[in-house]
Amino acid sequence: MPGRARWLIACLTAGLMALAAAAVVYLQGPVPGDPADPAQVLAGRPLYAANCASCHGNGLQGQPDWRARLPNGRLPAPPHDVSGHTWHHPDRQLFDMIKFGIERFAPRGYESDMPAYEGKLTDTQIWAILAFIKSTWPPEIRDRQAETSRR
Ligand code: HEC
Repeated sequence: MPGRARWLIACLTAGLMALAAAAVVYLQGPVPGDPADPAQVLAGRPLYAANCASCHGNGLQGQPDWRARLPNGRLPAPPHDVSGHTWHHPDRQLFDMIKFGIERFAPRGYESDMPAYEGKLTDTQIWAILAFIKSTWPPEIRDRQAETSRR
């Protein structure tokens, strides 16, 4: 095959692959939990205020002394800001903890005050809350959490 024809085929293939990738992104719609998507962040803010702020704080600061167990042996609500460990967890794990509760990820018999939101919030609403929480983080923390989610 002459060099030019080979080059043309390579270009066409690359172009088609780029088109296919764009089509996939378009058809899948917005990435869930994306802090760069203003629509998700806007939807997530009031949902966070209504469902989560009573424990995790209006400013995502968590409950005071959140590392120390309460008299009943349970843990207080940790902050969702950078001082907490929310950003150490990948997206899927955060989503599952919110939807199904913490107990599922803890040893048998573990008791927690964190409610499970299955049946109370839709998946889209949970992702929107996560988008809002992430939108409050500085870029380097967002990047590190995104990196954890890709692993
Ligand atoms: C009744 C109080 C309460 C409410 C309301 C509540 N949480 Fe929690 N949450 C907790 C407690 C307490 C923990 C720590 C649980 C443990 O480790 O045993 C926790 C832990 C978490 C964790 C895991 C720890 C972390 O930071 O990664 C996430 C994520 C979380 N909550 C998100 C939410 C979201 C989102 C909402 C609202 C939809 C919410 N919580 C509402 C009390 C609450």
